[in-house]
Amino acid sequence: MRIDILTLFPDTVNAVLHESIIGRAAKKGIVDIHCVQIRDYTENRQNQVDDYPYGGGFGCVMMAQPLKSCLEHVIAQAGEKRRRVIYMSPQGQPYNQETAKRLNRDYDHLVLVCGHYEGVDERFIEACVDEEISLGDFVLTGGEIAAMAVADSVCRLVPGVLADEQCYTGESHWDGLLEYPQYTRPEEWEGRRVPEILLNGDHARVERWRRKQQLLRTRAKRPDLFARFTPADPEDRKLLNEIEKEAGRRQITEPVTYRTAEESDLPAILAIVEDARASLKKHGVDQWQGPYPAAEHFLADMERGECFVVLHGEEISAFFTLSTREEPDYDAITDGKWTEGMRFCVLHRGAVAAAWRSSGMAEALMRCVEEQARAFGLRCIRTDTHKKNKAMQRLLRDSGYRYRGNVLVGAEPGHDPARQAYEKILKK
Ligand SMILES: C[S@@+](CC[C@H](N)C(=O)[O-])C[C@H]1O[C@@H](n2cnc3c(N)ncnc32)[C@H](O)[C@@H]1O
Repeated sequence: MRIDILTLFPDTVNAVLHESIIGRAAKKGIVDIHCVQIRDYTENRQNQVDDYPYGGGFGCVMMAQPLKSCLEHVIAQAGEKRRRVIYMSPQGQPYNQETAKRLNRDYDHLVLVCGHYEGVDERFIEACVDEEISLGDFVLTGGEIAAMAVADSVCRLVPGVLADEQCYTGESHWDGLLEYPQYTRPEEWEGRRVPEILLNGDHARVERWRRKQQLLRTRAKRPDLFARFTPADPEDRKLLNEIEKEAGRRQITEPVTYRTAEESDLPAILAIVEDARASLKKHGVDQWQGPYPAAEHFLADMERGECFVVLHGEEISAFFTLSTREEPDYDAITDGKWTEGMRFCVLHRGAVAAAWRSSGMAEALMRCVEEQARAFGLRCIRTDTHKKNKAMQRLLRDSGYRYRGNVLVGAEPGHDPARQAYEKILKK
């Protein structure tokens, strides 16, 4: 790709485009960028490039002759090529990634003409320009910044400029969506953690999470783009359905906190248990399908200071029971083992109110559990779940828990006691 930028300020443009990634690509000869001084092509003794506008008015207009002579020179130098002469203008079509793709795909020589002052003589545009491009609906002093933006965005699509095609095909605007959020080390910065799903090494799930984030943030930040997005991929359609369903749910708009539960919280806790019972039944999970857990269990938990309510503002949105007592059912683990030599607490019961499902509240609950484990002075949390409770298993894995084996839990007489055992060791 050869790019000639016709400008009154070649040093400024050169300085920018010969830096960093594009500069290195130019050094390697992958792209060929020239900044040409329009003033060198004047035919008057003062090297004057502009003059007063006919009809009066403010400022000066760039004359057609130096522009045309300059253009003819670069065309002669570049020779036979698939060429496009582009005038950078606030009156052109607004620039976007689709235009960058088209320019990279259809041409191998771009001539970018930068106006200044009040603009250029209209007859030059009529006679020599193939297309006008605007950087946006605002007015710049000159076309240089716009030309640099076009040159940079086209060059990074030229094979070999970036390390891999995926460097740009995964980015914002490539397929009409914005990119997913990015994180780097450390895992925790100023109390904000990297989403757990990015740490567990499950690439398929990371990919799905990222695609969903692309859809979610495009919908939130650029509803105009989202409205134009038509999903071709069945997986995208599934994700959009999921998002649609979740949209009806509550949104976390305040910090989620928790406190020790009191007897007066019991009705709210039992209402959440009823929600969870119905949801487990719907998903064919033989858990909480009898009287357990009942008021007596929560009152006993409260008595021991082991029952907690999770709050959004003042509203109870979830609860959990975290116990530091011995758990004899966990002693006989099969098909695996617990981490040895660590004092641990057990997450016995926990659920999120139906209105808060799929809102991020379950993840917030798991963070509260960790905070309370630390408050107990413990770094190991153990829990168990029914083998059919896929949602809980997913939540545990996404929250950094590891599957450790199988246990038999006798809390619910008359129900299948087989449970999958999970454990999380908190970082120091
Ligand atoms: C001050 S502007 C002239 C604006 C012109 N009088 C008008 O109102 O349309 C000077 C030069 O800056 C460049 N320019 C200004 N705004 C631009 C934009 N949004 N996109 C691309 N180039 C722009 C053009 O090359 C233009 O000739």
